[in-house]
Amino acid sequence: MTYRPASRLAGIAPFHVVELFTRARQLEAEGRDIIHMEVGEPDFPTPEPIANAAVDAIKQGKTKYSEALGLPELRAAIAAFYRSRYGITVPASRIAVTNGASGALNLAFACLADPGSEWLLADPGYPCNRHIIRAYEGQPIAIPVDAASNFQPTPTLLERYWSARTAGLLVASPANPTGTLLTLPEIAALATTCRQRGGHFLVDEIYHGLTYEDDAPSACAAGDDIWIIQSFSKYFQMTGWRLGWMVIPEAYVRDVEKLAQNLTLCPSTPAQYGALAAFAPETLEILEARRAEFRRRRDFLAPALSSLGFTITARPQGAFYLYCDCSSLSNDSFHLARDLLETVGVAATPGLDFGSNAPEKHIRFAYTTGLDRLAEAVDRLAGYFGQRA
Ligand SMILES: Cc1ncc(COP(=O)(O)O)c(C=O)c1O
Repeated sequence: MTYRPASRLAGIAPFHVVELFTRARQLEAEGRDIIHMEVGEPDFPTPEPIANAAVDAIKQGKTKYSEALGLPELRAAIAAFYRSRYGITVPASRIAVTNGASGALNLAFACLADPGSEWLLADPGYPCNRHIIRAYEGQPIAIPVDAASNFQPTPTLLERYWSARTAGLLVASPANPTGTLLTLPEIAALATTCRQRGGHFLVDEIYHGLTYEDDAPSACAAGDDIWIIQSFSKYFQMTGWRLGWMVIPEAYVRDVEKLAQNLTLCPSTPAQYGALAAFAPETLEILEARRAEFRRRRDFLAPALSSLGFTITARPQGAFYLYCDCSSLSNDSFHLARDLLETVGVAATPGLDFGSNAPEKHIRFAYTTGLDRLAEAVDRLAGYFGQRA
């Protein structure tokens, strides 16, 4: 049979870090000790109350399809979480439980992206966004951002990049790979520009809960016409369970429901029963202790990397990443990432994965491993750069 994939495949690039990850695994198989700082998921296991709730549900035979938009009791529990954590009222009817934030993004763009419609995204940014948009035949448009705007888009930048074909804006706060936050007035200003231009506004809040000074405000407070993307993956530490949610503007709920019925049938039912325990006080206590641990790691790693010659221009306010300018150490971050892996067994993600805004100058370190391993990584890096830690 002739190999003939759909033409949209031409716009979909692989994750470059996967190549690095595969090499790291090879080296491990050869007996090398690799410190994984490329991984974008918490190293902690899913909290026990969540795991127990899912196991109980499976044992009780709660393994059938659920409603397409999720179990009504989970949608209600998420609505209650908005009330308790943010003091915001979001009707459960506007909440869709999805297959991770990825599922939410797919449903949102399946619902909103017309062929050729343009979508504004921050560069650097989460790489899958532009490929998801391409999969629905939209056109991702990169807005280069830097320290001047805390690596987030601004209304001025929106005005500069908005065209007659622009259909909307997607931001993340805290952002990946930079960890920077948007304040509520900043979110509101972006929402106003989108409204004035007749565009959609989507806010990815997947790293909410993983902030280390100020809590991240939810864009739910800036208008009920904003699409909120959320997940159980990061703060709730359920990456492999494939569960997230989306807060949908009222007018689109039925459209998303129809899409969910056809594209996915429903999110994993046992995972949803597990997630019902995610908001229980004993779970939140575990998660808050882990948040404090992430903060300790960040507070150790950021100055240590700075003292080695990395420049952290993005204020790491949340998530679990440090996005570093490495241009005083190397003029090619991709080569640097490969070399660090091969010579000292430290895996990090080169800027190339996050867009085309000076990627060769940047590298992302994830602090998704324990303090002892981070200290070991810093020692190895110091040896590599010929310095003392
Ligand atoms: C900004 C951002 N959005 C969405 C996702 C997708 O996460 P998931 O599908 O596991 O919820 C990720 C994963 O790393 C991410 O960093």
